Amino acid sequence: SAAEKDGYDWFMRKEIFEQPRAVADALLGRHDGDGLLQLDEVRISEDELREVDKIVIIGCGTANYAGLVAKYAIEHWTRIPCEVELAHEFRYRDPILTRNTLVVAISQSGETADTLMAIRYARQQKARVLAVCNTNGSTIPRESDAVIYTHAGPEIGVASTKGFLTQLIACYLLGLYLAQVRGTKFGDEIAAVVDELAKMPDHVQCLLDSAEQVYELARTYAGTRSVLFLGRHAGFPVALEGALKLKELAYIHAEGFAAGELKHGPIALIEEGLPVFCVMPPRGRDQLHDKMVSAIQEIRARGARTLVLVEEGDEEVTRYADELIRLPVVPTLLQPVVATVPLQLFACELATAMGHDVDQPRNLAKSVTVE
Ligand code: G6P
Repeated sequence: SAAEKDGYDWFMRKEIFEQPRAVADALLGRHDGDGLLQLDEVRISEDELREVDKIVIIGCGTANYAGLVAKYAIEHWTRIPCEVELAHEFRYRDPILTRNTLVVAISQSGETADTLMAIRYARQQKARVLAVCNTNGSTIPRESDAVIYTHAGPEIGVASTKGFLTQLIACYLLGLYLAQVRGTKFGDEIAAVVDELAKMPDHVQCLLDSAEQVYELARTYAGTRSVLFLGRHAGFPVALEGALKLKELAYIHAEGFAAGELKHGPIALIEEGLPVFCVMPPRGRDQLHDKMVSAIQEIRARGARTLVLVEEGDEEVTRYADELIRLPVVPTLLQPVVATVPLQLFACELATAMGHDVDQPRNLAKSVTVE
């Protein structure tokens, strides 16, 4: 009913707007003021965590994309080799697991059969399993050695939104916790990241406050046949997630690419008027930023309409952008938390404009309990 939806037309839209609260709840009580992480729920001992020599992150759909982001952060902070794999692929390829492998299973519902079968298999192989889950007492956390709950609150819309953002937060916390336990980062370095995480609810709120710009853009694309999404580094999973949302809700062809891969094939798809979302990496010391500017220049020269997500104050890409969507200034590894939000708003509004049922997209289920 309308009351349950708090006056929003869809649960999905309501859940998008709940994200500042959800992100704050995911962080709540998990660090002291000085950046020391308190993840008591991780019932794997510190000694065991120090012995971990490989991390394998598994999940399906949106949860898999949260895992892709997690890999960048966890490897960078802990120097532990980290793989990300779709749960159904992992389960059936005879993966190499030992008792020093930490398997991180990400699942909003905690009931996805593909992910459940994969953790059962991992535990048979003696790996330790840690679940990142939103649903208290669901099957996946019950069958895991430990769990970090994401505290997003119930997610009803089939397309995951606040589930995804809080999975990112939980994975960042896990990475920082491992870095703390293993001593790969100093306390003040961890505290600096925690401070940035603490700003995320306000950043997300700012993006929601300017939703109308994205809605207007989305309405102009109702009926478009195809949309591409480009990103690099942590922006690459954002591109994949942006594309998945459009497939799920608007039933239009949408694909995410790593921008560096363009020249190896996908650039052949670029044609006059094709909308291409581009996630600009934050300005930093590395060359990612400039490489992305060149990629945007290239596709624009071939007639694409460039819809560029770029941080406040970065003007280098302005003249190659048909539309600018401004993002708050955040560290590269945390950018997915903010960059995903406009893409959620875009998909929700485009599907609405096309007359689709946003909460119950055709052929999809909120949680898939068969393999
Ligand atoms: C289904 C949903 C997706 C979701 C995936 C994983 O396919 O339609 O939106 O990302 O399951 O769900 P989970 O509950 O395991 O995160």
